[in-house]
Amino acid sequence: MNPIKILLMAALLCLPLVSVRAQSAAQNTQPARLKILVVHGPNLNLLGTRETNIYGKTSLDDINLRLKEEGKKLSLDVVTVQKNGEGDLVDAIQSAKGTFHAVILNAGAYTHTSIALRDAIAGTGVPVIEVHLSNIYAREEFRKESMIAPVAIGQISGFGGESYILGLHAAASFLNSKK
Ligand code: DQA
Repeated sequence: MNPIKILLMAALLCLPLVSVRAQSAAQNTQPARLKILVVHGPNLNLLGTRETNIYGKTSLDDINLRLKEEGKKLSLDVVTVQKNGEGDLVDAIQSAKGTFHAVILNAGAYTHTSIALRDAIAGTGVPVIEVHLSNIYAREEFRKESMIAPVAIGQISGFGGESYILGLHAAASFLNSKK
């Protein structure tokens, strides 16, 4: 066979390989997806049955499912965790450093009492968005103070389960503005 033809055929046979390589190189240069940790504090595992007149009938599983769906739309990886203990929440905040780009935090009753949580946020520097289902300013006096607010990027309070979705959008907009 004509040597030029042989060369041409060899080149044609190698083409798919070249294009697969080019594709995977392109994939490797894709920017890393933003990762968001959603931290639910004490008693939020009871959502759906707990004081439904205040917190509504949506369960925590439903909220988490919605967060993951909305995360996909916003190209965010969403991981959720619920803990009742203050120390566990401190651990969750500390573990977010270097792994997650931002944290959405509903610290429940610890919002109003926990200097340890506030210190964990200040100490790690992880961007935190504080969320509450209820409007904490329209309730008892003791709920009007948040230990978290001064070290958070911002706070969303009073929109039921939707507060978390708003928090996710706030996180996306905050992080994208930093790019
Ligand atoms: C809450 C408000 C807190 O005062 C309360 O202790 C909670 C839930 C909210 O989401 O509205 O547990 O954080």
